[in-house]
Formats: sequence, structure tokens, C-alpha cells
Amino acid sequence: MRCSATIRVVLVLCTLITTWYFAETMYPNKVDMKSLKRIFDNIAEEEPTKKKVEFSCGNEKPCPDGYFAFRIISGAGNVVGPSICFDNTIIMSSVKNNVGRGLNIALINASNGTLIKTGTFDMYFADVKPLLEFIKPVKDGTLVLVASYDDPGTNLNEEARSLFKEFGSIHAKKVNFRDAWIFVGGKGINAESSFEQYLQNNKETNKYDGWPEVLEVEGCIPKKSN
Ligand SMILES: *[C@@H]1O[C@H](CO)[C@@H](O)[C@H](O)[C@H]1NC(C)=O
Ligand SMILES: *[C@@H]1O[C@H](CO)[C@@H](O)[C@H](O)[C@H]1NC(C)=O
Repeated sequence: MRCSATIRVVLVLCTLITTWYFAETMYPNKVDMKSLKRIFDNIAEEEPTKKKVEFSCGNEKPCPDGYFAFRIISGAGNVVGPSICFDNTIIMSSVKNNVGRGLNIALINASNGTLIKTGTFDMYFADVKPLLEFIKPVKDGTLVLVASYDDPGTNLNEEARSLFKEFGSIHAKKVNFRDAWIFVGGKGINAESSFEQYLQNNKETNKYDGWPEVLEVEGCIPKKSN
């Protein structure tokens, strides 16, 4: 055993020395200090362009021309607030101090990307009226971005659920106590949204004690042409 180990070490050393010898003869060490400096200068110059490209809203993929990038993250349990980014601007977050427990909703003009307004609706202690007053007058050509936080569903009624359905939601009909829900739809799209995620509050599958996992959705929304 010892003998074969020694042989192996000797073989490795021989290989190293031979490699080094050939490297030296084939690439003679002629690099002077000036060219070394040039190499380092080039590296320093190239460094900034090699930096990772940041896409709008920090998304994984860029959006083509004529599209708005967005990213929505639901609240985590009843601890961390949700966030909504649109066209590289955080429009709702804890830092902006404009999110709260319940449903967090941003209304955006689908043709020019301008934020029309944001609203936060407690769905546990408050009734559904303020929410209805917010979503009923929404005009055609408006994007509706929704992020849940803690409890988005207890006081949702049929009227509110069917308005969200009209905006393209398929899960609004069953959103309930402490479910997680994120959604992008629009008034007048007459189609099911492809940007929706929903997780039921379920003791067996919850990530946190009383709440399901945080949801996150990102994507590109085509600008509405007038
Ligand atoms: C974009 O939309 C907003 C909200 O609908 C509107 O107030 C604003 O005038 C529009 N901006 C332009 C440049 O058309
Ligand atoms: C959106 O903005 C355009 C102008 O850019 C305007 O003509 C349109 O009425 C606005 N739509 C909504 C829903 O505010």
C-alpha cells in the first residue's frame, strides 16, 4: 500500500514537471511590465460591461418593445407585506407604506402605463363596500393588479367575486380566509388571465403555521393600443 502511494506521488510530480517544462519552452516568458499593465487596464475597463444586466422589475427575462414588465409578490403570513412592481417602479410595498392586510389593488391605464390609483381593503374586520366602490367604476382599458396579505377572502361577496371574474380571474370565486392570491387582469379583456396564482390555506400543505407559501408572478403585459 505505502509503496503504491509513493509511486503515485512520484508520477504526479513527474507529470507536473514535464508540463511545466513544455509550457515554459512553448510560451517563453516574454511578457514585460508594459504589456502586463495594458492587460490589467483592459480588464478594469471591461469589468463594468460584464456586470449582470438588470431587467425591469428585476425580472428574469426582459420584455419586448410594446410590453410592460410587472412582478407581484403576495404577503408572507401576516408578517411581511406584499409588493407590486410595474414598468420598473414599485407601486405598492411596505417600504412605500401603502399596503395592508387583505387585498392590495393597483389600477393602471393599460395603454400608457400610468398608475390611476391604489387601494388596500381589509377583508376580515371591514365589510366589502369600500372594495366594491373601488372596483365597480373601473373603466375599460384598465389593468387590475391584486396581491393578498394575510386574509384576502373572509368578507368577499358574490358581487366582488364576479367583478374579479370579469377582469379575468378564475380563482376569485373561491378565495377565502388566509388563502394566498395574486392576479393581473383587466377591465374589458374578456379572457382568462394567464397571470394568476392561488394557494388555499390548508393545515396539511401550509408552509407557515396558519398560511400557505408566498406567491410570486412576473411577466410582460402588452400595451393596449388605442
Ligand atoms: C395616461 O393615462 C392617465 C390615466 O388614465 C391619464 O390621466 C393621462 O393623461 C395619460 N397620459 C397621456 C400622456 O396620455
Ligand atoms: C388611458 O390613457 C389614454 C391616453 O394615453 C386615454 O385615452 C384613455 O382614456 C385612458 N384610459 C383609462 C382607462 O384611463
